[in-house]
Amino acid sequence: MTQIGSWRLEVDAERIAWLTCDAPGTSTNVLSAAVLRDLAAALDHLSGMRPAGVVVSSAKANGFVAGADIKEFLNVRTPEDGYALVRAGQTVLDRLEHLPCPSVAAVHGFALGGGLELALACRYRIGADDAKLSLGLPEVLLGIHPGFGGTVRAVRLMGVRPAMVLMLKGKPFKGARALEVGLLDELVAPAELKARAKRLLLQPPAIKTAPFVEKLLNLDAVRPFVARKAAASLREKVPREHYPAPYAILDLWQHYGAAGAESYEAEARSIGTLMCTPTSRNLVRVFLLQDRLKGLGGKTQIDCRHVHVIGAGVMGGDIAAWAALRGLNVTLQDRSEELIQPAFARAKTYFDKRLNAPGAAAEALARMRMDVAGAGVKDADVLIEAIVENADAKRALYAQIEPRLKPNAVLATNTSSIKIETLAEGLNDPGRLVGIHFFNPVAQMQLVEIVQGTATRAEVARLAASFTRKLDKLPLPCKSAPGFVVNRILLPYINEALFALADGIPAAVIDHAATRFGMPMGPIELADVVGLDVALHVGRVLAEAFGRPVPEVLLKLVDQRKFGRKSGEGFYVWRDGKPVRTRAQNAEIPPDLEDRLVLPMLNEAAACLREGVIEDADLVDAGAIFGTGFPPFRGGPLQYAKERGVDQITSRLSELEQRFGERFRPDAGWRSLNPSTQPSM
Ligand code: NAI
Repeated sequence: MTQIGSWRLEVDAERIAWLTCDAPGTSTNVLSAAVLRDLAAALDHLSGMRPAGVVVSSAKANGFVAGADIKEFLNVRTPEDGYALVRAGQTVLDRLEHLPCPSVAAVHGFALGGGLELALACRYRIGADDAKLSLGLPEVLLGIHPGFGGTVRAVRLMGVRPAMVLMLKGKPFKGARALEVGLLDELVAPAELKARAKRLLLQPPAIKTAPFVEKLLNLDAVRPFVARKAAASLREKVPREHYPAPYAILDLWQHYGAAGAESYEAEARSIGTLMCTPTSRNLVRVFLLQDRLKGLGGKTQIDCRHVHVIGAGVMGGDIAAWAALRGLNVTLQDRSEELIQPAFARAKTYFDKRLNAPGAAAEALARMRMDVAGAGVKDADVLIEAIVENADAKRALYAQIEPRLKPNAVLATNTSSIKIETLAEGLNDPGRLVGIHFFNPVAQMQLVEIVQGTATRAEVARLAASFTRKLDKLPLPCKSAPGFVVNRILLPYINEALFALADGIPAAVIDHAATRFGMPMGPIELADVVGLDVALHVGRVLAEAFGRPVPEVLLKLVDQRKFGRKSGEGFYVWRDGKPVRTRAQNAEIPPDLEDRLVLPMLNEAAACLREGVIEDADLVDAGAIFGTGFPPFRGGPLQYAKERGVDQITSRLSELEQRFGERFRPDAGWRSLNPSTQPSM
């Protein structure tokens, strides 16, 4: 056996070479520049050995290869740098593809991005058939496309339609689908992966290529028509100026038809350019921010098996179900079984939809127990209180449960607006209370705020963050301040929309201005979805704390019991879960409107940072992206401000202050964010 950097090379008695990726010091293989250089060296070695075939596999338990090393993208300063980086990778995979003997990628777990491109450069691919098998080209999510020949080989192997689904959506294929579209040659029991890979090499079958109809779509005369149609349907989903990568994938295919040396060269040129777009730089940043949030949950490991949730309403019910879905035992308490029943019915429907493996939905439901008496309190490792938003009610409840808790159990509240300090009054051990603030809908919202009161012990906050990772959510640590971070940034956006509405701008125009900027949903629609009563409640908390006015129209609609989507009417009338819009959506957007909606979020983000509600600017951006839906391709509110220029932002805010009043006054926090006003070292 020879170890060549990250690769292990062994040749067996039947002259099969086993080329195994095992990057040292890490649990996951990534295709960094160094790993690729090692692969080139391993191929040099191999050429003198004249093997009968080569099996490429991974020694890691979690999967094959996860993709390129995204941190290396940060060193790419110019399109030339990007071109050089991927061209070097292309050259190595080209050598693998042109080995004189057959090669097979034996894939278990994930093969993603560069990892799948490595597998695509082998003559055959064979997959270990289990739920973890997942093959994908998710590069568009980083504002780029495959760069190690993936845009060419994927089309050549599967045909244009499945390849485009894989590349344009960025969502991986599971084993059965991968086999069906020809991405895999065989799907085998995990224990047989190696033996079957070897058999494939000793009795090599005909090489798979795309089906006939896919080849027709690839003809020179047909491609422009198919590409135009695909681009038109893409435009309905994402605009080219915000997300250029999927359009670049179509352009490459249209021009080169996934054939010839120039298709690889063009792929490398194109990715070099894309890597230097603000979109890709921001998406890469967001990816790394997400990693950072995950890391914040890993500073302490919580040993949590049992969660007790009190309050089986909208939030408590869904938190309980989510915890059960993630494998924890859950007791759910409310004042009667009738009040808990709807949460169980919702959980059952959700599990049935989400868990396909036989018996999995029933098993998840069996992990949940109704518990009116609160018997689960004494066994809980984490207790989450999600009862009505009333400080007295919450404190009275804590007085009953605190004596029954295990000494190290985490006591958490899901409060959206009450200070942790207020709730901790009366506790024997105020240091054990922490906010674990989930967002609605629990299943869809990835972010969870970990709210630390002045008394909350740092270790308790770390345990809470570790718990959110167990739930596969992203923890955002923050201080107990009005609106915490997410609602504080989000509400001025909704409020300003309502002031614009009062100025006579139609709701649909306002929403369109926001979605054109890249928000996932307009602010008026969002208010209706969140619930106008909830929006009003948070609005009042922030009005009290910061003297901000509450829009009259919100008070009026709540008074009329028009709560938005849940009551069938709010700012919009809702039919079948969708808002009924007028044609005003196509009306012209007033020139100031976009800044009117977006800049208040930026201003509030600067204020959160100045007040120390959150530790640094990157975390503010992460909170806004994962919590409010601030467009990821813009990198977050503070990153966006930096890109436009902090001076430009503050002068625009001052202009808007002149026109619309002091709610636009630039926050003092901008001074420390402005490079020109920072003292030089
Ligand atoms: P909800 O009104 O839907 O449910 C509250 C549940 O608590 C009810 O089923 C009620 O019977 C039960 N309850 C009240 N007092 C109780 C007691 N002493 N013992 C046991 N059960 C009791 O309320 P929702 O919306 O689920 O909110 C719960 C908490 O989550 C609140 O603190 C709220 O601020 C917070 N929150 C709400 C969000 C939302 O969008 N609804 C989002 C994030 C946080």
